[in-house]
Amino acid sequence: MNKVKDGSCPAVYGSELAIRPLESKDLPEVMNIELQGYSHPWTERIFLDCFKPGYRLWGINENRVLVGYAVVSYVLDEAHLLNLCVHPGYRGQGVGRLLLRHLIGEAARENMNQILLEVRLSNNIASKLYRKEGFEEIGRRPRYYPAASGWEDARVMALLLQS
Ligand SMILES: CC(C)(COP(=O)(O)OP(=O)(O)OC[C@H]1O[C@@H](n2cnc3c(N)ncnc32)[C@H](O)[C@@H]1OP(=O)(O)O)[C@@H](O)C(=O)NCCC(=O)NCCS
Repeated sequence: MNKVKDGSCPAVYGSELAIRPLESKDLPEVMNIELQGYSHPWTERIFLDCFKPGYRLWGINENRVLVGYAVVSYVLDEAHLLNLCVHPGYRGQGVGRLLLRHLIGEAARENMNQILLEVRLSNNIASKLYRKEGFEEIGRRPRYYPAASGWEDARVMALLLQS
């Protein structure tokens, strides 16, 4: 099985991956992945609200099947990664890294200065991915996420794109 080492689309299980803008008609597939990805998933309404200028929504397909997506907002010269999720059946094969590299490349191409994100303190897998791709922790937001009992802090991470 190929591991992603660059921004190209690799073969996963012998098939091709393709990244393209998400469309509202993808929402049933998005919600299927979202509900499996998070303890406190976004609603369809939240995704719908992101289909407007200032947001970039990316989907990644294996053949015709959506296997992951990312949602980014642009405010002035700052990009904010709001959601990155891969179908549980396709994790650990480089899909998340590929999407992340794509959205970083697009943000740089569109002259963003940095990308910010929040991640649950307990989300070691995502934090590791972000660190490996160059993000650094710049702070914490206390009680940022709802949790099974109470609240959980967020790690705030940033990637500088240009000086
Ligand atoms: C976080 C997520 C997007 C990663 O997607 P993925 O396709 O599985 O990740 P990749 O296969 O590209 O792996 C990239 C890196 O993530 C880390 N990683 C992935 N799976 C891991 C695992 N099971 N254990 C530890 N680290 C892991 C590793 O650092 C890996 O790099 P490496 O292969 O060089 O070690 C995916 O786990 C997911 O959708 N999680 C649920 C939603 C979520 O938490 N999103 C992030 C919100 S901030």
